[in-house]
Amino acid sequence: MAICIDLEGRVVLLCGAARGGISGATARRLAATGATVVAVDQAQEILDLTIADVEAAGGRCHGVVANLMDAAQTDPLVATVVGRFGRLDGVVNVAGGTKAEEWIPLEQTSTEMFRDTLNLNLEYVFRICRDAAASMIRRDAPGSIVNVGSVSSIAAAPFHGPYGAAKSGIAALTRTMAFEWGKYGIRANTVQPGAVATDRVMNRPSTPHAGAALAGANAPSIVWTTPDELANTIVFLLSDLASGISGQTISVDSALSTKFCAGSRPFEINKRNPQV
Ligand SMILES: NC(=O)c1ccc[n+]([C@@H]2O[C@H](COP(=O)([O-])OP(=O)(O)OC[C@H]3O[C@@H](n4cnc5c(N)ncnc54)[C@H](O)[C@@H]3O)[C@@H](O)[C@H]2O)c1
Repeated sequence: MAICIDLEGRVVLLCGAARGGISGATARRLAATGATVVAVDQAQEILDLTIADVEAAGGRCHGVVANLMDAAQTDPLVATVVGRFGRLDGVVNVAGGTKAEEWIPLEQTSTEMFRDTLNLNLEYVFRICRDAAASMIRRDAPGSIVNVGSVSSIAAAPFHGPYGAAKSGIAALTRTMAFEWGKYGIRANTVQPGAVATDRVMNRPSTPHAGAALAGANAPSIVWTTPDELANTIVFLLSDLASGISGQTISVDSALSTKFCAGSRPFEINKRNPQV
């Protein structure tokens, strides 16, 4: 008998719904397993494209417009899903990232920019997971949480300061979720992408700083991973096939994070040893 992932009857809250991103790929994969997806994104037009893809393939996807950085807009989300569908089995927090203007040296980063990056890449994840777990515990129902981090949590790269801090926070927070909520049957894991050629990344305008960081003979060659490869791992972790996996941080990066990238800063003169 073939082993397959069957999430028929389950309801999954998915933060992010970009058709050309990890979130859109996750919505399509999830719906293909039979799950009902409730996707949250900042604009109806973004949701409409992914809902259309899912429905065209015979799946179920409902959209909610909300700014995830605004607690007043995220606080009702879990109750809304449980009120409408009577259950919540899984949570996937994909939305995140940085804006082009945030790709600047750390010493030029404003406190507001730092806070914004932490809000979009860490704080809303805490709020959604807290509310989802509280609801699962109240209903005495098990669940699975998958938070999307980044390999920026495990290695340095120019201009990844606040972002790397936020994504390190995701891994730490998710481990604690697994530890505290395991006794209620709730699993929690982090999936860390490397470089994924999503629309968001490919369409991000280059900046002088980013250009300098990525240029040069010593820049590391980028190994790309696809949104579907991330989505496959996320769906596996949500499923009962992953029943023994919790509290883990799993890099899905085509081995990008295994490469030593000290040569990626050719623009920076080594002041201790200028000959190098
Ligand atoms: N693409 C990569 O190379 C890469 C690498 C490492 C980590 N990641 C992480 O993977 C995740 C997904 O990245 P992606 O490139 O696939 O992005 P994506 O294309 O899935 O886009 C994320 C979605 O989040 C939504 N969003 C952004 N801010 C929002 C807000 N305030 N409220 C509501 N929705 C909001 C956007 O509208 C977009 O639809 C992010 O957390 C990112 O940090 C991506």
